[in-house]
Amino acid sequence: MVFIFLLSAMAFGQTPATLKIDVAHPKAAVSPILYGLMTEEINYSYDGGLYAELVRNRTFRNDWSGILNWYLIEKGSASATMSIDRSTGPSKALTTSAKMEVTKADANSPAGLLNEGYWGMAVRPNSRYKGSFFAKSSSMGPLPVRVALVADQSGQVLAKTSLAVLGNAWKEYKFEMQSGSVAASAENHLEITVEQPATLWLQLVSVFPPTYKGRANGNRIDIMEKMAAMRPSFLRFPGGNYLEGNRIETRFDWKKMIGPNVDRPTHPGTWNYHSTDGMGLLEFLEWCEDLNMEPLLGIYAGYSLGGQVVKPGPDLETYVQEGLEELEYVTGASDTKWGAVRARDGHPAPFKVRYVEIGNEDQFDKAKTYEGRYAQFYKAIKAKYPEMQIIATMPINEMRPDVVDDHYYKRERGMFEEARHYDNTDRKGPKIFVGEWATREGSPTTNFGGALGDAAFMTGMERNSDIVIMSAYAPLFVNVSPGGMQWSSDLIGYDALNSYGSPSYYAQVMFAACLGDHINEASVSGAGDKFFYAVTSTPKKLCVKLVNATSVPQPLSIELTGIGAGAHSAQIQTLKANTIWATNTIAQPTRIVPVKATASINGERLQHTMPAYSIQVLQIDRK
Ligand code: AHR
Repeated sequence: MVFIFLLSAMAFGQTPATLKIDVAHPKAAVSPILYGLMTEEINYSYDGGLYAELVRNRTFRNDWSGILNWYLIEKGSASATMSIDRSTGPSKALTTSAKMEVTKADANSPAGLLNEGYWGMAVRPNSRYKGSFFAKSSSMGPLPVRVALVADQSGQVLAKTSLAVLGNAWKEYKFEMQSGSVAASAENHLEITVEQPATLWLQLVSVFPPTYKGRANGNRIDIMEKMAAMRPSFLRFPGGNYLEGNRIETRFDWKKMIGPNVDRPTHPGTWNYHSTDGMGLLEFLEWCEDLNMEPLLGIYAGYSLGGQVVKPGPDLETYVQEGLEELEYVTGASDTKWGAVRARDGHPAPFKVRYVEIGNEDQFDKAKTYEGRYAQFYKAIKAKYPEMQIIATMPINEMRPDVVDDHYYKRERGMFEEARHYDNTDRKGPKIFVGEWATREGSPTTNFGGALGDAAFMTGMERNSDIVIMSAYAPLFVNVSPGGMQWSSDLIGYDALNSYGSPSYYAQVMFAACLGDHINEASVSGAGDKFFYAVTSTPKKLCVKLVNATSVPQPLSIELTGIGAGAHSAQIQTLKANTIWATNTIAQPTRIVPVKATASINGERLQHTMPAYSIQVLQIDRK
């Protein structure tokens, strides 16, 4: 039997390897929050992504060409113009509006505005769409306004409603529309029309489809479900570069991103597009709540990407206070100043926060001020929140930070090397948060080579998860529509209608689904440098992670010392591909997905052959 096993293995060209696992004596504890998520506004992550708003440029920004994403409708003999009116808007935050002047229109010749959405608008059968806008009109009496979701190609009206705009004072109008038994599609747009001459001012036009858990101002269901399958334990937000802003004025200025959308001025993000800020501070926190993740809050720390730095000392104090107030908004009881604001915003219960991060990638600060800035934030935060763990974005010489955030973006070969990075890390130093990492292979989402690099790197983090306490892949999202991507090799791709997971996504789903509470000693002999492993366990199960990044099968004898006599059942999940370029796409979303099998192990040895280019998770019953 052993002879046949060896013969067939040698025929494939890969020498048999042995993986010895000490089942009985688990060593260090696994961090219970090893796997989490990192997010920022990049690749249309929120606008045109997770944040379910259908209307693009709902606040009517314009450039030389006119109002972006909006078009004039003049059907039949109708005649109208649209322009920006800088003299009037519904709030201090939104001081301008779209002015639609209709000089000729009737029931057969309506005039109005069309919004193209984020590369279309998803309309599904039998769904309810909730919308609103701020408006005023020059008409003496009520001005009937028709709102409709319309198919681009056929012109078919898929859902519609009408309402009357009353008078020349700004007022919010809410509406709902119901689709019938239409085919799900993204080739649709929004029309807002009138059937009589009139002047209509509009601002903050919004339409939401059904959202995850039915939240108002909420998130796309399909993308939330994909994240839920990853079982993330925390969410690092709001960046990344997006936290820092290109300039101080365009940082994540959280006070401008709370409360009703009409009070949010919007701002230019760092990835070459404008943010609606509909995904504001409370929305991030509710996203955490919905997926049972703890918030890991990034606090702006006085350094912006363009190179502006706020020196430590009195100049920085404003930002330290801003950070403290932000923490109070998030964690304070509703009788504190900022906790009360959160309660006013609809969430009386405080959120629990154990980790805050001071800035992002401050090694790029050429003025080298981070040590001082970190120390100033550290002192102020610890004084008010002694238990808070304060993450530094780079190593600090003057003091020992609680946690240091390491980032890795490498090609496949580089990540294979990094898989052993933490094996010899000094356990007396600060804990490690791998706050951004990815194998950059494949575009827009990673291919199987990326997944192999990612899985190899995850084995390294699991083997060392006594010191690597948290990790998060980045970027998490990409809108795969033309122009949607600013950073390639992303985890989850989508367009207006559908979403899909990359092979790396499925590797992460598999790894998170079986994670023990202790690390088990294991060693391998006879395998090449493209074989990776990690073993963790609970008293009930053993989780064995294996990666064969070669093009040939890997025969493996797994010795389970101390597992005990008798039969043990095992579930084996395999993710594999024929080439490292193989991948999933928006059109072919499930070419590479985990396949489940079961096995029975008798005694302490399992003869196993890993397929070529494969990632496997073996969950072995210890009873
Ligand atoms: O994940 C993309 C970017 O990479 C992040 O914004 C930044 O922190 C890093 O440089």
